[in-house]
Amino acid sequence: MDKIRLKDKEFSLFIPEAEILDAVGRMALQLKVDMEGKNPLFVGILNGAFMFVADLMRALDAPYELTFARYSSYQDTASTGKVNEIMPVRADIRGRTLVLLEDIIDTGITMCFVRRRLLDEGAAEVRIASMLFKPDSLRCDLRPDYVGLVLPGDFIVGHGLDYEGLGRSYRDIYKLVR
Ligand code: IMP
Ligand code: MG
Repeated sequence: MDKIRLKDKEFSLFIPEAEILDAVGRMALQLKVDMEGKNPLFVGILNGAFMFVADLMRALDAPYELTFARYSSYQDTASTGKVNEIMPVRADIRGRTLVLLEDIIDTGITMCFVRRRLLDEGAAEVRIASMLFKPDSLRCDLRPDYVGLVLPGDFIVGHGLDYEGLGRSYRDIYKLVR
């Protein structure tokens, strides 16, 4: 499919799944090396990261521990700048290396907030692995440790990302046309 329509908006094909999976495979290779001997806890950030988490954890193909947490900051097609904690990390994180798995970093406000919070709660180290990164939109001091693809600022959907709750299940990524 070259074009999709979600509610009032039209999107066109932007990144095919194969390109995403190549990028995720490269992230997995780097993580395998870096996490050697660290007993990391991977934390998938819901909802958007569900597909990336499944791709990355299968690419790692190793007995790592995985849990999920949920935050929200987006409304419509823009960040509200305020982060809500909907489902906190339940595991005992004191002294542990955490790897946060995020679908996309846009303003960075969500990841800044979550990282700070987990460090305050006693994590030894918090690394951030994001499938996608829009560096031009960044509004706080954040450098993700692992990035799949670097993108311009366009609003996108698919491979976990949504517009008003729709479009998460597409394998490919689509970009807003109008
Ligand atoms: P940030 O706090 O601005 O970095 O936003 C992070 C969250 O906003 C991501 O986890 C996504 O869920 C959502 N988001 C950011 N950019 C997009 C986009 O282009 N499409 C859909 N969701 C997005
Ligand atoms: Mg997200």
